Amino acid sequence: MDNVRILAIESSCDETAAAVVENGRKVLSNIIYSQIDLHTLYGGVVPEIASRKHIEKINPVIEAALSKAECTLSDLSAIAVTYGPGLVGPLLVGVAEAKAIAFAKKLPLIGVHHIKGHICANYIENENLKPPFMTLVVSGGHTHLVRVRDYGEYEVIGRTRDDAAGEAFDKVARAIGLGYPGGPKIDAAAKRGDCNAIEFPKAKVNGSEYDFSFSGLKSAVLNYLNHAQMRGEKVNPDDLAASFQKAVVDVLTEHAVMAIKQFKLNDFALAGGVASNSALRASMAEACDRLGVRFYCPSPVYCTDNAAMIGVAAYDEYIKGNFADYSLNAIPNIGIEEG
Ligand code: KG4
Ligand code: ZN
Repeated sequence: MDNVRILAIESSCDETAAAVVENGRKVLSNIIYSQIDLHTLYGGVVPEIASRKHIEKINPVIEAALSKAECTLSDLSAIAVTYGPGLVGPLLVGVAEAKAIAFAKKLPLIGVHHIKGHICANYIENENLKPPFMTLVVSGGHTHLVRVRDYGEYEVIGRTRDDAAGEAFDKVARAIGLGYPGGPKIDAAAKRGDCNAIEFPKAKVNGSEYDFSFSGLKSAVLNYLNHAQMRGEKVNPDDLAASFQKAVVDVLTEHAVMAIKQFKLNDFALAGGVASNSALRASMAEACDRLGVRFYCPSPVYCTDNAAMIGVAAYDEYIKGNFADYSLNAIPNIGIEEG
């Protein structure tokens, strides 16, 4: 087979992104237009504004990705696009664009599940990583412990029952006045604080030992702030950020370690926006070291939303001939096992 070049499009939330990926591993270009500054004004992503911005940016971003990869639409083997999960308006912009290019250039169309994309980001810089492995996908919208049985075969072992880990970071950051997006700001503040200053509860979930719950922890942080305010006490935001972050990281690490042991896997990969959290990376790297398990984590640019990861995930589908037709639609809540 000749070199397979896939143009991938990602627009599920607040990043308009396009990438050209060769043979599922080599990233020829990875262009990301982040709308973060726009949504910072509102303290979170506003779906209507995000959709409009995607429409404005998607063509220039695709043109930039093709130009950086030194190719044209005629050099491509397929068009891939995230079709879910995510915000319906933003997803539809990418899906409509991908369908239009596929139709105009008579190219195969591939619909990619966003979370599978996050997991596949690990293949970009790690040639040695091969299934089976355990992975923890932690992002603004998702917290999933997933067993990757084989290429394209995923089994969810545990998931959050309420808030995603990134969502908890964002909400707590807002409460202590750090702004949006909160994850990187808490990460930075935590480095200056004492993670043992405040003891926050570690949520246990009835039923599944692998599931997570972060809404209780978020409420505990808010209660702590309210009580301090009522008593006229000053809160040290760095200690609070560090203590909150420790509670999240400890529970994520404990569940991941339990899963790695139970399924007797030799490889573990982090994925998603929160995977760029320095404390989580350090904690998981150390836990894997203790277990004698190889640890993988994408560079920060491949942790948060990007289209290169979508191009990598699409390659599996290309090889299997799993193509979509023009009825491909955005599915905002699609699960990993359905997608
Ligand atoms: O994967 P992503 O870009 O979007 C979703 O698919 O949701 O993840 C974004 C999330 C945000 O909640 C952001 O606060 C969080 O990732 N995040 C972090 C860090 N960098 C980004 N959370 C903790 N520490 C970080 N360094
Ligand atoms: Zn994402």
